[in-house]
Amino acid sequence: MARYLPHDSYYRKARARGLPSRAAFKIEELLARFRLAPPGSRVVDLGCAPGGWLSVLARAVGPKGRAVGVDLAFCPNPPAGAVTLIGDIRDAAVRARVGAELGAMADLVTSDLAPKLSGIPERDEARLLELAASALDFAQAALKPGGAMVVKLFMGERFGEVVARFKAHFESAEVTRTRATRPGSSELYLVARGFRAAPGRGVPCDVRDAGAKAHRPAAGGKGRRPEAES
Ligand SMILES: C[S@@+](CC[C@H](N)C(=O)[O-])C[C@H]1O[C@@H](n2cnc3c(N)ncnc32)[C@H](O)[C@@H]1O
Repeated sequence: MARYLPHDSYYRKARARGLPSRAAFKIEELLARFRLAPPGSRVVDLGCAPGGWLSVLARAVGPKGRAVGVDLAFCPNPPAGAVTLIGDIRDAAVRARVGAELGAMADLVTSDLAPKLSGIPERDEARLLELAASALDFAQAALKPGGAMVVKLFMGERFGEVVARFKAHFESAEVTRTRATRPGSSELYLVARGFRAAPGRGVPCDVRDAGAKAHRPAAGGKGRRPEAES
């Protein structure tokens, strides 16, 4: 179980930089280490609220890139330069809307998806893994060949099975931790690169029945309980 340190150095750093959560430092580190999201690239952030990862992603891709976030929850202060959509990533209309906002296939799909935790370890782990599988489904329709994914996962009994599913679709998949992860947390990140697109897959950009609402800023170990820590 993660140690709860409400005012640790990452919390203070996030406040000082006007970031909504410490989670931003995790994606910042992963982008730098794995050289992901260069200027001009297109990224989709699954489970973007309240906007920590998305603000880092929008800044990384810059004005010539596209950063689209989607979440069940409203993102109260969408980062400058990003588009946020409210909706369920498993919904075909939401997927279509993300594709339309992106304008082309994505270079990178990130997923910090997490369910509301029930406190029942087996149930929470199963729901987290289902979300990871949904993120992979999403990426299979949205990623361009050679594209990359970053997915938050928690160590659990079916961890190896989930990682194997990702490995089947990418040339490489590495499991790593970040410095900003709380000590004792079972949180891990999967960085998968070199997406192998299935032949004949559909284009996700059908805007006709796109049901999600968009919001644009005006300017600019085994059996362990998964813990929310963003
Ligand atoms: C840990 S939070 C994301 C924090 C965010 N990355 C940040 O840096 O601010 C996980 C998010 O996943 C979202 N989520 C869970 N299931 C979802 C689904 N099926 N579709 C879209 N969003 C979902 C939740 O609403 C929640 O906001």
